[in-house]
Amino acid sequence: MVSEHAAQILVASNRGPVSYTRGEDGSLTSKRGGGGLVSGLSAVDDKLWVCAALSEGDREAVRQGVAEPGVRMLDIDAGLHADAYNGIANSVLWFVHHMLYQTPLEPAFDAGFRRQWASYEAYNRAFAEALAEEAGEGATVLVQDYHLALVPGMLSELRADLRIGHFSHTPWAPVDYFRLLPDDIGEKLLRGILGADRAAFLTRRWADAFIGCCTEILGGTGGTRIGVHGLGADAEFLRRRAHEADVDERMAALREQVGAGRRTIVRVDRTELSKNIVRGLLAYRALLEEHPEWREQVSHIAFAYPSRQDLAVYREYTAAVQTLADEINAEFGTPGWTPVILHVKDDFARSLAAYRLADVALVNPIRDGMNLVAKEVPVVSDDGCVLVLSREAGAYEELGDASIVVNPYDVTGTAEALHQALSMPYEERADRTKALAAAATALPPQQWFLDQLEALREG
Ligand code: G6P
Repeated sequence: MVSEHAAQILVASNRGPVSYTRGEDGSLTSKRGGGGLVSGLSAVDDKLWVCAALSEGDREAVRQGVAEPGVRMLDIDAGLHADAYNGIANSVLWFVHHMLYQTPLEPAFDAGFRRQWASYEAYNRAFAEALAEEAGEGATVLVQDYHLALVPGMLSELRADLRIGHFSHTPWAPVDYFRLLPDDIGEKLLRGILGADRAAFLTRRWADAFIGCCTEILGGTGGTRIGVHGLGADAEFLRRRAHEADVDERMAALREQVGAGRRTIVRVDRTELSKNIVRGLLAYRALLEEHPEWREQVSHIAFAYPSRQDLAVYREYTAAVQTLADEINAEFGTPGWTPVILHVKDDFARSLAAYRLADVALVNPIRDGMNLVAKEVPVVSDDGCVLVLSREAGAYEELGDASIVVNPYDVTGTAEALHQALSMPYEERADRTKALAAAATALPPQQWFLDQLEALREG
């Protein structure tokens, strides 16, 4: 049954724009999230965001009927959600698209995997049914990411009148790697996305990889159109936010931690395996070893915010980052100099402060759909900043020319890139920062979202 308040534009994603926490007295506090989709969606009215309840607070909000206008949270059974999100989406699909498997024992697609896959199907079905219920006649539905790959196919069967788009925020695996997945599962994932009228990606490279998988495995993409929309930084918002009082305060605190006159190499990431934080620290250590002239002259500010801590491999990675930072500090630190300044508590104002004072930004992911940090730093930089950028980040397509480009696995090469970045003459650095900022802001989030809507309606 179509709801009486049927929306004309619907977005579906696992993580929604708001989350709730329950206080000790039982009261609920809501927190709004940020990101490209949140800003992008602000460009349109008459919209509904369908997302999953992710925490106990979220579930309680659904039970109490507390709802933000324009948001519908699905209270999916916690065990089923955990299997779909932690099990399939984050431990299998994320690993395939970021090519992260690395031990002789992984992956092993066994009975446990099949059980989790059944949950992934049920979780996708819950989204498809909710969207079918909420969408007005002929509405446009934009389904986000690898969590919901089956939704377009399921939804198009329930509601043939809708225009359905799918957007991937991650890389797409090359066909030889994608084929690690059991054949029936790989086919279902591709057919699920091909249930959309249009499937879009952040870069040409990921779109081509998807087309490659469809061609090789299914013989083509059927009638589904494929598009590319390279999300850019939200310059207006960032420039304003980066000059508010709390950011100034954090800059003063960071400057004091770094020490007067010292250079900074900055990185800001979720503590995520694909971000390659450990090799980044190894490259910094190699810089101090190979170019001792930088000792006491530069500090590495590394913000590594906890992510997906339900998964042991993420917890272990978080611990490895901390241990290596401690080792480097023990090996090189002096009474007046801390080589690695590591912060793990998420603080957006402090991230912006670090962006503003960075001399060098290190963005060295193994693979990354886009990487917005690479785009945000040059936009807010006070004094120009050199970007050391992995060629495997989606942002490389747009920012590669004005960056120092690295192979993310090459620790020695990354150390040399850091040396080159720190040694760059001031004028060259200023010119490059301008070029980076222009490329980074070419497609602001609102335009990025409107372009997708328009392209979907054109077909
Ligand atoms: C990537 C994905 C998003 C996801 C985000 C954070 O950017 O493409 O879909 O929301 O990571 O991950 P999380 O698991 O915390 O939602």
